[in-house]
Amino acid sequence: MRPILIVHESTHGHTTKVAETLADHFRKLGHGAHVDHSGEADGLVLDRFQGIVLAGSIHGGAHVQPTLIEFVKRHHAELAQIPTALVIVCMAAARDRDSAREAVERYFSTFAHDTGLEPMRKTAFGDELPYTRYGLIERLAVQLVSRAQGDPTDTTRDHDLTDWNAVAAFARTFAGDVDQAARSRPTYRPPVPLE
Ligand SMILES: Cc1cc2nc3c(=O)[nH]c(=O)nc-3n(C[C@H](O)[C@H](O)[C@H](O)COP(=O)(O)O)c2cc1C
Repeated sequence: MRPILIVHESTHGHTTKVAETLADHFRKLGHGAHVDHSGEADGLVLDRFQGIVLAGSIHGGAHVQPTLIEFVKRHHAELAQIPTALVIVCMAAARDRDSAREAVERYFSTFAHDTGLEPMRKTAFGDELPYTRYGLIERLAVQLVSRAQGDPTDTTRDHDLTDWNAVAAFARTFAGDVDQAARSRPTYRPPVPLE
């Protein structure tokens, strides 16, 4: 079984934590898994992977990080041949209301528009509010938005708003997708040297 690749980008580190957690789940499910940053993944031969997760976060506007978008555009032809999943980490995904769900749908469609890729699966996970790691301006700006939106405003600590059970469930779903795709298209490819 070829491994699953997770190509991601992160501004404050939370998407990296989600990517590493997905990789741990894939390994427990019997898949190899490799995590890389989108700016450093160009040397990988993508068709040696069973499936690819593309993960990024939102920082104002509706676009994930430009390095992730550029990676997908550069490798569009290969990605179109492999089961892919888009994972977006953002504040909107932690809010249980229609306007937030609409925002998440906008992030998905913006990704498809930016890259021309329609991933097989799309999901979004709530974020972390790392108040203690923000600089002063960012801390105040995020607190202001959080107050208006009903999100946590205590800046003396960080707030983890990710549903980690949903991350585990998503790993199971996508692992099932790649298993299914491998059964229907069982071409041999040599194993990948991971580290
Ligand atoms: C300056 C700033 C702007 C943000 N803008 C949005 C936004 O427009 N929509 C949203 O849903 N989340 C927004 N967020 C929340 C981030 O997506 C969230 O903090 C995420 O966990 C960041 O992941 P990262 O640590 O991997 O970069 C914003 C966060 C910051 C700090």
